[in-house]
Amino acid sequence: MKMIDIGGTGVLASAVAVGCMRIPAMGEEQLSRYIHAALEVGVNFYDHADIYGGGRSEALFGQVLAQEPGLRDRLILQSKCGIGKNQYDFSKQHILESVDGILSRLHTDHLDFLLMHRPDALMEPEEVGEAFDALESAGKVLHFGVSNFSTRQLELLQSGVRQKLCVNQMQFGLKCTGLIDHALSANTEFPHAADRDGEVLDYCRLKGITLQCWSPFQYGFFEGPFIDNPQFPELNACLEQMGEKYGVTKTAIAAAWVLRHPAKMQVIAGTTNPQRLQEIASGADVELERADWYALYLAAGNQLP
Ligand SMILES: NC(=O)c1ccc[n+]([C@@H]2O[C@H](COP(=O)([O-])OP(=O)(O)OC[C@H]3O[C@@H](n4cnc5c(N)ncnc54)[C@H](OP(=O)(O)O)[C@@H]3O)[C@@H](O)[C@H]2O)c1
Repeated sequence: MKMIDIGGTGVLASAVAVGCMRIPAMGEEQLSRYIHAALEVGVNFYDHADIYGGGRSEALFGQVLAQEPGLRDRLILQSKCGIGKNQYDFSKQHILESVDGILSRLHTDHLDFLLMHRPDALMEPEEVGEAFDALESAGKVLHFGVSNFSTRQLELLQSGVRQKLCVNQMQFGLKCTGLIDHALSANTEFPHAADRDGEVLDYCRLKGITLQCWSPFQYGFFEGPFIDNPQFPELNACLEQMGEKYGVTKTAIAAAWVLRHPAKMQVIAGTTNPQRLQEIASGADVELERADWYALYLAAGNQLP
């Protein structure tokens, strides 16, 4: 498994990580088997959020950790907060209370990474900074980051926070390529040339911020998987062809496509199927040739000037 130093922290995480949004569909025993199967293929990183399953994702995961002393230390745990009911909330009180809830549900005394889930229009960077200082000095959170942040939002929040923001989690995959489209179409009038995130991919590379890619196998705003989906025949034919060439499945090729980007991104896979996770993990060992990477980008329905 390819490993990534997350945001220059020295924390070495698997390039393929597990997203826990869908795990409430599993039982405790099933999740325990899944975690061990993931460790066997080198996957050691878990992405949570306090809102997944209304807290049930973390609670289920915490039950497994409570049952198996020593398992926590083999895993890197990340969670997110900042989304409240019909609002975003980056107030100090909300962040501190959220983290206490997360730690209690997960049955752990610390998070390796805490991300602010979605930008709060009313955020006060210094107030977030106070919350991060309190969490760091209490040993409750080791490292910090954000999700769905544009370049300016990252800079704004960083201006009030002492700790480096070392992660930005964004949607990216073969059917959601906004992070790269505008740069490829710069100086054209193509619709793809519109910059919707302040060129955040280049900014993250320049600053050594790890991009984590959520819903990498979904199309639209996580509407469903594109693999084996009859709506995308050209893409699936190309995935099939590449799979034959590299000796892996279409799913592995879709993961390899994200990981081929030199930004050293992390794939946050939401599968609840250990066999599928194994396929995705095998994609981390595939180095796509440049021509193949571009062929997949075009087969996904994109254009180059
Ligand atoms: N920061 C944010 O705002 C944000 C937003 C959304 C998600 N996330 C994070 O991203 C993680 C992943 O999101 P996601 O679950 O939408 O991502 P995903 O990995 O793209 O999709 C996984 C879903 O697609 C299904 N699937 C069917 N065929 C598949 C195939 N060939 N390959 C892969 N999956 C296939 C899986 O079913 P099976 O279980 O049967 O394999 C599962 O239901 C979440 O768990 C969460 O941690 C973050």
